[in-house]
Amino acid sequence: GGKEPAAPANSAGAAPAADTSNVVYTVGSDATYAPFEYQDDKGQVIGFSQEVIQAVADKAGIKIQIVNKPWEGIFETLNTGDSDIVSSSVTITEERKAQMDFSEPYFEATQMIAINDNKGADIKSFADLKNGKHLVSVQTGTTGDIVSQKLMGADSKQIKRFESMPLALKELLAGGVDASVGDNGVVQNFVTNNPGAKLRTLVDPTFEKEYYGFAVKKGRSDDLLNKINTGLAGIKSDGTYDKIYAKWFAT
Ligand code: ARG
Repeated sequence: GGKEPAAPANSAGAAPAADTSNVVYTVGSDATYAPFEYQDDKGQVIGFSQEVIQAVADKAGIKIQIVNKPWEGIFETLNTGDSDIVSSSVTITEERKAQMDFSEPYFEATQMIAINDNKGADIKSFADLKNGKHLVSVQTGTTGDIVSQKLMGADSKQIKRFESMPLALKELLAGGVDASVGDNGVVQNFVTNNPGAKLRTLVDPTFEKEYYGFAVKKGRSDDLLNKINTGLAGIKSDGTYDKIYAKWFAT
């Protein structure tokens, strides 16, 4: 559960009533994921997901603290108690729903391929990655990894796995791989920020819609998930969500 600061003993020596308003919920986030969750110069976690979860918390009247955690093992932090909530652009999938509980969706995404045209000019569709010639980078265990495995085979030598999306994309820039597969917002952001590179993006018609949700421990007995969902509904209806969305994804 959330961490409660030690309550000061009162003069009568009786145990003070539990002050649930002092609970600070720990939000685990792999903050390498611009523009959703990443760090500013001072190491503060910023981004679209961070602003949404903060607005949700404010609306729900709960306190949160965002803590940077590596993607690998981030779901397990819900079970160990290191995180109360995971906010990390996590796609809600049936498989993951068996392991943890999700809030209502807060963002719609899809997979996107970034191609280095110095090496992958012939790639015109996702299926073209299947010909065995191309190396593809992904972040380990993401939905980008999963769709790539479905196409090329789980132990395909074509798939190069990295612990973060920036590492997977740096490899593309360096020419170590010909393409990268990942969430559209992050892939597009990287390509936009590297205008000098011969990078091209592609969304394949076979890519399904994905929805990001905030995750909590499966079967968690307090009403944290309800609070998150109530807060999320609240910021969607009062215009806060739209403002945050426009700030980060203005077209
Ligand atoms: N949406 C994708 C997934 O759930 C990728 C999320 C990666 N998030 C991150 N902060 N690295 O698999």
